[in-house]
Amino acid sequence: MALVAPSILSADFGNLAAEVRDVLDKGADWIHVDVMDGHFVPNITIGPPVVAAVRRHAPDAFLDVHLMIENPDHYVKSFRDAGASLITVHAEATVHLHRSVQVTKSTGAQVGVSLNPHTPESVLDYVLDELDLVLVMSVNPGFGGQSLIEAVFPKIERLRREIDRRGLKTLIEVDGGVKPYNADRFTAAGAHVLVAGSGVYKAEDRAAAIQALKEA
Ligand code: DX5
Ligand code: ZN
Repeated sequence: MALVAPSILSADFGNLAAEVRDVLDKGADWIHVDVMDGHFVPNITIGPPVVAAVRRHAPDAFLDVHLMIENPDHYVKSFRDAGASLITVHAEATVHLHRSVQVTKSTGAQVGVSLNPHTPESVLDYVLDELDLVLVMSVNPGFGGQSLIEAVFPKIERLRREIDRRGLKTLIEVDGGVKPYNADRFTAAGAHVLVAGSGVYKAEDRAAAIQALKEA
């Protein structure tokens, strides 16, 4: 069974509290919050005030905050204070990844590192033991509704082998182009957590989509 983390990027932002409660009521495990700054990625979405609003309306939700922003060290405390449960920074967005991981952990949040499609998992060799999660991007970040990049599967497999070899509890989360019809490819490769934006929020039947992802 996989954990399912619907991405609110594909939700109706004008009705966000209801959209978050809807997927939680329909079985979502986490809420994936895509934060974009218009510099690290060519899109701008939301910041700490919206995370705080989601936290107010979903006090028990696990908020999986994906920071697609430059210089994440400067913002992780604001996102933790807003209610983030887990904060993921991009390996490509910081000069000193080990320090960014330490700074994020110091907020009390769980910590993840995300890898863009071109970034080899070896980037994590010297921080992997510190991580609660690795977020493997299966699309180039910035938008929902994109098609998955096939090259991601061997990366997931190698990462899962390394995590298992080291005996770590680090979760592998995949993000981008994940749908009920392809989710089993990601879990077979070793993913634990499936992010799905359009695959859930644009589905005819959201509960069925979430259930299908869980069973992958
Ligand atoms: C893309 C985001 C993803 C995106 C997933 O930059 O990080 O979380 O919302 O959307 P889908 O599942 O539609 O590809
Ligand atoms: Zn994301």
